[in-house]
Amino acid sequence: MKGVILAGGLGKRLEPLTRITNKHLLPIYNRPMIYYPIQALVEAGITEILVVTGGTHAGEFLRLLGNGQEFGLKHLDYTYQRGEGGIAEALSLAEHFAKRDKLVVILGDNIMEKSIRPVVERFAAQSAGARLLLKEVDDPWRFGVAELRNGEVVSIEEKPAHPKSNYIVTGIYMYDAQVFDIIKTLQPSARGELEITDVNNAYLRQRQLAYDILQGWWTDAGLPETLYRATTLVRERELKHQQATQQEPVTA
Ligand code: G1P
Repeated sequence: MKGVILAGGLGKRLEPLTRITNKHLLPIYNRPMIYYPIQALVEAGITEILVVTGGTHAGEFLRLLGNGQEFGLKHLDYTYQRGEGGIAEALSLAEHFAKRDKLVVILGDNIMEKSIRPVVERFAAQSAGARLLLKEVDDPWRFGVAELRNGEVVSIEEKPAHPKSNYIVTGIYMYDAQVFDIIKTLQPSARGELEITDVNNAYLRQRQLAYDILQGWWTDAGLPETLYRATTLVRERELKHQQATQQEPVTA
């Protein structure tokens, strides 16, 4: 299993913060945003990781992360997305890296509380297809929304005006090698992008789409409000962790 982090885009919704740097290099509490998805993959046991970046500040990723020594990695792969062709287009750049292996893909601005290792293990045991992580939220219209019937996903709509449920598709996606064949069949959406929701619907039509509900808190960080929320949540988690480790009984 390999990991892909999608960290391109122009981050326009965070202007002017993103005028002089890439969104994924902005701070979430005490670390740059990109640290969290890398950490999530490493904690899930994934050590072969590709960072897809883009825009005008791509070189800064190399300067910040190098070969990922800080995460216990020996090597990090990088590639560059020209323009804003969408999440599925960014993922298509990972084809040569994947070499037909299964992939865990994380959007670089998705931050979650808990380890994704258990779901990655379930995907490893899955013979083929895709696996999504859904989360119940109060503002589903901002996301890809899953319609559920009898515990099964029956449709996914990208940013619908009238969401059919409160369960959204988080930016943690697991795919087999078919994903690259599917991306080649996609047409750009009304916003001119190759949509990851179209990829997921293709797996759904083939009845090859599994899902889990993500445990613990989750947020994106692509808007001023959610960037702030991510910082607050990570800070609380850090402080709890510090307290827990300080409260360990001191033995003489
Ligand atoms: C993207 C996807 C959407 C998904 C979301 C998760 O939205 O298009 O389906 O629910 O990420 O963060 P975007 O961040 O591009 O608005």
